[in-house]
Amino acid sequence: MSLKHEIAFTLNGVARKVTVQVGMSTLAMLRDVIGLTGTKYGCGEGECGACTIIVDDQTVNSCLMFAVDCEGRRVTTIEGLTGDARADALRAAFVANGAVQCGFCTPGLMVQATHLLAQHPHPDAETVKRGIEGNLCRCTGYRKIVDAVVTAGGAKEGVAG
Ligand code: FES
Ligand code: FES
Repeated sequence: MSLKHEIAFTLNGVARKVTVQVGMSTLAMLRDVIGLTGTKYGCGEGECGACTIIVDDQTVNSCLMFAVDCEGRRVTTIEGLTGDARADALRAAFVANGAVQCGFCTPGLMVQATHLLAQHPHPDAETVKRGIEGNLCRCTGYRKIVDAVVTAGGAKEGVAG
């Protein structure tokens, strides 16, 4: 018999109630129960950052967080960043800098980089490297990603939010 539990939390700005299995990860809840598939399953072990989300004001590997621990929290996924000025600047800069190849790492990186820009609005390359060190990319060699985030920081001048 599997134990189920109803949790209440805020997802991308909207109050939600969801019934989850006890022991289910937040990543599985987002993808398999709620149907938000922007957050990716890479390693399932907290090593790759593909599953990065924001919980309250911290980035979290959602594969390592139990869904029941979302109770009462503010959860933001890549889908929740639509219309966010920092994320919009990042999206444009990722494209302009060729920072997306297969794209599997991109949602997690976008979430991590959006959070980084909230802390450091105009980061230099070293700050970006430290900020995204938990997000693995097998394709780009990172330089284009770092360039994109630095560009987005510069491009954000005068943008609200
Ligand atoms: S899938 Fe969560 S860190 Fe890799
Ligand atoms: S673009 Fe392929 S893993 Fe990063």
